[in-house]
Amino acid sequence: RRAVRIGICGLGTVGSGTVNVMARNFDEIAARCGRPVEIVQIGARRDNPACDTSQLDTTREIFDVANNPDVDILVELIGGTTVARELVLAAIENGKHVVTANKALIAEHGNELFAAAADKGVTIAYEAAVAGGIPIIKSLREGLVGNRIQWLAGIINGTGNYILTEMREKGRGFAEALSQAQQLGYAEADPTFDVEGIDAAHKLVIMASLAFAMPLAFDKVYTEGISGVSSEDIRYADELGYRIKHLGIARRTEQGVELRVHPTLIPQRRLIANVNGVMNAVLVNGDAVGPTLYYGAGAGAEATASAVIADIVDVARTLEAKPDQRVPAAGVAEGSQGGTQV
Ligand code: HSE
Repeated sequence: RRAVRIGICGLGTVGSGTVNVMARNFDEIAARCGRPVEIVQIGARRDNPACDTSQLDTTREIFDVANNPDVDILVELIGGTTVARELVLAAIENGKHVVTANKALIAEHGNELFAAAADKGVTIAYEAAVAGGIPIIKSLREGLVGNRIQWLAGIINGTGNYILTEMREKGRGFAEALSQAQQLGYAEADPTFDVEGIDAAHKLVIMASLAFAMPLAFDKVYTEGISGVSSEDIRYADELGYRIKHLGIARRTEQGVELRVHPTLIPQRRLIANVNGVMNAVLVNGDAVGPTLYYGAGAGAEATASAVIADIVDVARTLEAKPDQRVPAAGVAEGSQGGTQV
């Protein structure tokens, strides 16, 4: 069978990780797809020394990739929402499937993009948009699909969890820990997204849209970050037997689905209180399965590449598959601050 042809847009942390893992695991990926998966073009404003693209066709014009008739799947890794939205719409218009790691794009423009994709009969896959390498999208969409989900809650920003962990375990200051997270490639281009809870809010609405079969409702999330958490707060919490963790929480209520992200106090004995560093964890409670827990690296080049490639393989295996379609079912409540019983 002929190769599945990939065009990658963006060669930052996730783009370079994807190029490297695809090259390293070429044979395994081909075996699982039943055909080779080849990168036929890369669109990026600049090279990235973290990966070798000397043997690949590269262009500085990312829209070349959306217009390239040889590309079956466009992989959007440029980030941001303005150009990324236009790029994805252009790819869809040209009948290409799209894989993206862009949570802001899906959370803020997903309703429009999914509708455009449905019109064209193409797929938009976004496993890498939530919780890095953890297959939480697949779990919500497939593994738990028979459940009525009561609530989900998780540590869904690797940068924020890394900062809180460094402050607690090594006595580092907030700014120093953030700068380290940036050097490690965990933080967003604009790190206020990480520390003010916006990145977590993006991921929460994406998970909620699948868990509760509802439209993406980013404007409904109560959003508070970790920038107000001090070393003293962390120390006092410790003395009282708690850890401070930044959680995203989506809960079914009588008024609709409540969505909120904020720092919380969690008893130290709980599993989720012991999720440290860049690791993420998501708890999902379904009526049939009961509580389930998903754990893994929430950010970083190769962990996120793992999810990008999973989507590429998924789309490659079912090129004729129907696009994502969701039916609004549950209402949405305004998010509000409050105690949490996770
Ligand atoms: N900045 C994000 C985080 C990257 O730290 O979790 C992964 O989405």
